[in-house]
Amino acid sequence: MVKICCIGAGYVGGPTMAVIALKCPDVEVVVVDISAPRIEGWNSERLPIYEPGLDDVVRQCRGRNLFFSTDVERHVADAGIVFVSVNTPTKTRGLGAGKAADLTYWESAARIIADVSRSDKIVVEKSTVPVKTAEAIEKILAHNSKGGNIRYQILSNPEFLAEGTAIQDLFSPDRVLIGGRETPEGRAAVAALKSIYARWVPDDRIITTNLWSAELSKLAANAFLAQRISSVNAISALCEATGADVTEVANSIGKDSRIGPRFLSASVGFGGSCFQKDILNLVYICECYGLPEVANYWRQVIRINDYQKSRFVNRVVSSMFNTVAGKKVAVLGFAFKKDTGDTRETPAIDVCKGLVGDKAVVSIYDPQVTEEQVQRDLVMNKFDWDHPRHLQPMSPSSAKHVAVSWDAYEAARGAHAVCILTEWDEFRRLDYQRMYDAMHKPAFLFDGRNVVDPDKLRRIGFVVYSIGKPPDHWLRDMPAVA
Ligand code: NAD
Ligand code: UDX
Repeated sequence: MVKICCIGAGYVGGPTMAVIALKCPDVEVVVVDISAPRIEGWNSERLPIYEPGLDDVVRQCRGRNLFFSTDVERHVADAGIVFVSVNTPTKTRGLGAGKAADLTYWESAARIIADVSRSDKIVVEKSTVPVKTAEAIEKILAHNSKGGNIRYQILSNPEFLAEGTAIQDLFSPDRVLIGGRETPEGRAAVAALKSIYARWVPDDRIITTNLWSAELSKLAANAFLAQRISSVNAISALCEATGADVTEVANSIGKDSRIGPRFLSASVGFGGSCFQKDILNLVYICECYGLPEVANYWRQVIRINDYQKSRFVNRVVSSMFNTVAGKKVAVLGFAFKKDTGDTRETPAIDVCKGLVGDKAVVSIYDPQVTEEQVQRDLVMNKFDWDHPRHLQPMSPSSAKHVAVSWDAYEAARGAHAVCILTEWDEFRRLDYQRMYDAMHKPAFLFDGRNVVDPDKLRRIGFVVYSIGKPPDHWLRDMPAVA
């Protein structure tokens, strides 16, 4: 029986391995993690991450050929294929701080593999890593091996799933990418991993490349996706200034088959654990290779994203007579996108911090995010969010002027304004008349995701701002926001 071990039971390791176990009943898959609470969660009825369809997949194979364990050493030693899916956050200190990928967790995983291996292994980079990481890993494994003449093959097999649609993406991926050494041993390792995916992924969707192309393709794919969002967000600012409507513009340009319709929704900004971190990493790599023009090109994608978030906050404050001090502002949605409870790098953090910085009293409702998570996020330092939680110091205090509500109407009761920051489907179906009736007047609604019909809400009486849409008369009379 082929034995797979995956180091890292997070948003990628958990769902990916669950799907491999489901599709390959003859393969034993063990997901290991140093975080005992995370593993306990995976072994319980309440999984540690919320992902539509995941419960069902785990229920079908857990205890059959899918296992979760904290015994990292034993399961790595037993496996023929070891996936490494640990976090690769942005460095917070030292060389490259604020840009470079922090490979601490990756290196510690590699050292464990070297320590405990007694047989040949295929080591698969599942985490997103800087291009050329495989070379560093090869060196660590070669120089630290304790088990005699063990041969390792390093493969790059980056993951392209998006949160909220992870199971769908894993069941039917646009492509699976496998990079390996162009040697007979390297090709054999690529074939071995390919045979796992080939159980459910059509042959023409499994791409094999050299190691560096695979590593770089992951960073490039995320940079291109994020660039699309920054492009449409940049156009959204121009739409507001000119009376064009960004939804109409996006629809018009997306009809061009060379551009395509997806990933053109203007928003308060992109969030999530990947885009910013991976672009910063790309910027750093370009700088290291002496390519400052290329670095600056990609850095601009992040700058526009930061601009979009601060533009939103400025719009809220300037519309409300240039002050939100002491005013209750309801925030609907805190997760970085719908259908996930993940808040890593969510634009809601920057928006809430901006509002609190202007002394607003913020009341947050999100169907999947707990109060503890919100409070933790709002006091955490930049880039600390992607380090494993058990390694983080406990927050000494919670964010002042922020409350979490378990109901959208409760959040909006007595508020001067509502800000929609995540596109949860339930926000489309809310009774906005009921909300309006319980708010101070004028009642403002700032839609950072274009989920409501502004004309309908204006008829109720709201003053409405929607990203990239012509502002109503009220807002047009306000001074321009920088
Ligand atoms: P995560 O933080 O959810 O999970 C990583 C896990 O690794 C944590 O539970 C941590 O405790 C564990 N870990 C760290 N060091 C360890 C060690 N030495 N031994 C055992 N366990 C260890 O992260 P994630 O979101 O699953 O991302 C993992 C990687 O995949 C990152 O490189 C990320 O960039 C990449 N990625 C993420 C996504 C996504 O949507 N989240 C998508 C594609 C790629
Ligand atoms: C992303 C990539 O899509 C995925 O391929 C990669 O493996 C991990 O990073 P993820 O971050 O989970 O996935 O979600 P994604 O759907 O890409 O959304 C990222 C952010 O962009 C979210 O905040 C989302 O709301 C925002 N977004 C997305 C927009 O603002 N507009 C869009 O049109 C699409």
